[in-house]
Amino acid sequence: MEKRNIISGIKKYRSEVDTNFHMPGHKGKPEIFSELEKNLSFFDITETLGTDNLHYPTGFIKDAMDYISKVYGSKKSYMVVNGTSCGIISAILACTNPGDKILVQRDCHKSVYNACILGDLKLFYLYPDFNKEYGLNFSISIEKLDQMLTDNPDIKLVVLTYPTFYGICFDVKKAADIVHKHGKILMIDEAHGSHLQFCKDLLPPPAENSGADIVTQSTHKTLPCLTQGSILHVCSDRVNINNIETMLRMLQTTSPSYILMAAIENAVHWMEENGEERLKRNIEVFKRRTLELRNMGINVLEDDFLISEGLYDFDATRAVISMSELGITGTQLQDILRYKYRIQMEFADLQYTVGYVTAMDEPEDINRLFDAIKEIYIEESKINKKRGIVQIEPFPQLQHERKMRKAFYAENMLLNMDDAIGKTAAEFIIPYPPGIPLVCPGEIIVKETVDYVKTMLEHGINVNGVVDNNFVRVVKWKEDL
Ligand SMILES: Cc1ncc(COP(=O)(O)O)c(C=O)c1O
Repeated sequence: MEKRNIISGIKKYRSEVDTNFHMPGHKGKPEIFSELEKNLSFFDITETLGTDNLHYPTGFIKDAMDYISKVYGSKKSYMVVNGTSCGIISAILACTNPGDKILVQRDCHKSVYNACILGDLKLFYLYPDFNKEYGLNFSISIEKLDQMLTDNPDIKLVVLTYPTFYGICFDVKKAADIVHKHGKILMIDEAHGSHLQFCKDLLPPPAENSGADIVTQSTHKTLPCLTQGSILHVCSDRVNINNIETMLRMLQTTSPSYILMAAIENAVHWMEENGEERLKRNIEVFKRRTLELRNMGINVLEDDFLISEGLYDFDATRAVISMSELGITGTQLQDILRYKYRIQMEFADLQYTVGYVTAMDEPEDINRLFDAIKEIYIEESKINKKRGIVQIEPFPQLQHERKMRKAFYAENMLLNMDDAIGKTAAEFIIPYPPGIPLVCPGEIIVKETVDYVKTMLEHGINVNGVVDNNFVRVVKWKEDL
């Protein structure tokens, strides 16, 4: 048996893939870590005399955080070593008390829901507008946001995702104005937007400069940082800084990695020096090739087209590609790219395959992807087979979202999916990635969801919360809820 399973597993993966469009944003290119990489054990230290403390910083860690805050224009910035999931949970718990009401975008990341279970929060959903033509959740409606806050004046916190996994953006300035008009706090999950700060001419405006009160970012996703490296920005006086710091201390490890902290700061420095030029270069290539492919009839999302279709904004570094009109699912396209072209994307759903272009990509990397897409499209167009658009349905509008914590802790049992229809879910059902729950604890499982999950499983999509591709956990005594 192989003794070092992880190392040999990673080496095998690297030997099979030449170009990747997945996180971490450094793309496996070592130059960014030159000093760190040469001597990992030298930099792997702990809190001791002269090495400061992430949880009570007064020395060089504080200097690093002050520097990051200056670059992002925040009031205060915190390095988070447990990923944005931890930043999100910390921020939500810091802004609420048990029993409080919170308004969240329905297609938010599972960590938002986890925070609601931990904090015993009452959830209200803001459903994004589903665009049938693109088979995509477009942005949230600012009018609906206003209406929800008017109808539910005791909502304490609003949590929105900007950009989404698919690069979709709304008018964050307007959203902030509305939330503040109602006297509430706006938290933006900008896990996919650490890079927006570094190319303001060509990318949607960063939430941290657009009125959001708290912004959480996965530095490791779109910046050249090591995995798990994240940043939490506090951007206004509406936020209780002491609560944020208390929650970060409570939820993060007491042994934060100095290598990770160094990598977070390093990534921001590198982007400050090189980010704009590199992003501009890559966006230019990406846009040119996108237009070429769109002219051939290939569905590659592009910001100008989307804006003309009514979308507010789109992150032009996000590769979102579909050949569904040729009857090819996003997962099939992802497999062809991987196994025929040695290109690995970030994730795929039934319709789209999605990848990240970061400042670390070279124009050749982007060209390889687009050349491959072009070749696949030409080849597949020649094949005479049944065609049809693979359509993704929006989330069913579910009714029982306020009993999440109770359902989560209730006695439960496994049922096969067909028998679970009409029962209350005890666990999340989450296609992963992207980690957006289809069903949350406390929601009634409906036939449409079961059919949808079955279709995803048939297409090889990983769905967390489904055991042996057939069973889901439901609450045992519905009447107790
Ligand atoms: C929208 C969104 N928010 C938050 C997260 C969590 O980020 P992290 O992986 O840094 O914990 C993710 C991860 O994929 C995400 O897609």
